[in-house]
Amino acid sequence: MPDPPRHRQWASLQLRTYVIDRLQAAGCVFAEDEARLLLGQASDEAGLEDLVARRASGLPLEQVLGWAEFDGLRILVDPQVFVPRRRTEFLVREAASQVRAPAVVADLCCGSGAIGAALVARLGPIVLYAADLDPAAVRCARRNLTGSRARVYQGDLFAPLPAALRGRIALLTANAPYVPSDEVRLLPSEARLHEALIALDGGADGLSVARRIVAGAPAWLAAAGVLLIETSERQAAQLAEAVAQAGLTALISSDEDSGATVVHGRRPA
Ligand SMILES: C[S@@+](CC[C@H](N)C(=O)[O-])C[C@H]1O[C@@H](n2cnc3c(N)ncnc32)[C@H](O)[C@@H]1O
Repeated sequence: MPDPPRHRQWASLQLRTYVIDRLQAAGCVFAEDEARLLLGQASDEAGLEDLVARRASGLPLEQVLGWAEFDGLRILVDPQVFVPRRRTEFLVREAASQVRAPAVVADLCCGSGAIGAALVARLGPIVLYAADLDPAAVRCARRNLTGSRARVYQGDLFAPLPAALRGRIALLTANAPYVPSDEVRLLPSEARLHEALIALDGGADGLSVARRIVAGAPAWLAAAGVLLIETSERQAAQLAEAVAQAGLTALISSDEDSGATVVHGRRPA
């Protein structure tokens, strides 16, 4: 993350130390890095106090700042909207290698629109359709995709997409919720309390939403089109089996550094 702009380097060393101490006392593990970001965001001491108080109360850093860094972009993040995770950059890299502009791309369960925004930044003028069930996520995605040719819809998985897209999607991406219902309580409080449950809870085995995406994918993918879904390492084999049962050619890829796992499903040409 770059240093704050010069006009914001107003903070004294004492103030810096004060912010770090407050954050450490609140249990923030990366207090020094976070202090630098909060100092860079605030324009005066009152604003800084507000940011520090919100962070110390347990709000995710990205929701306090109003943005998250993702694939080299600043993605705007609204309250209760899922904060894009850095591991999802692996799905973006994998997805970007599959198509070229002006391919038709759809991102289901788009949340803040981070995946779509990153694909637009990497690929240029793709024809992007994004959708999410949560109206707050849809509003946030629209903000992040302003200026692109993307269309953002609200509704359940494929339901809000234009029917004319059936059989025409070259790349279908999804980072759907995949935490098993009875493990949601084990998540860090930042996620449990400040991200919508619908963004986290993937049903009994964590694959309820992903399975529905896989089942719908063959009808929406173009010939040789590909589906990419983020999942966990332990769920990948089961999800790949569902992909194969849906008539798609399944593949699992993973990234050791970020711990990310992606299941691919290609429709036969
Ligand atoms: C884990 S979050 C991922 C958000 C975004 N793709 C990202 O990577 O930052 C999952 C998203 O799926 C959405 N979602 C959950 N169930 C859905 C459904 N049935 N139809 C559409 N979206 C859904 C949630 O609202 C949430 O925004």
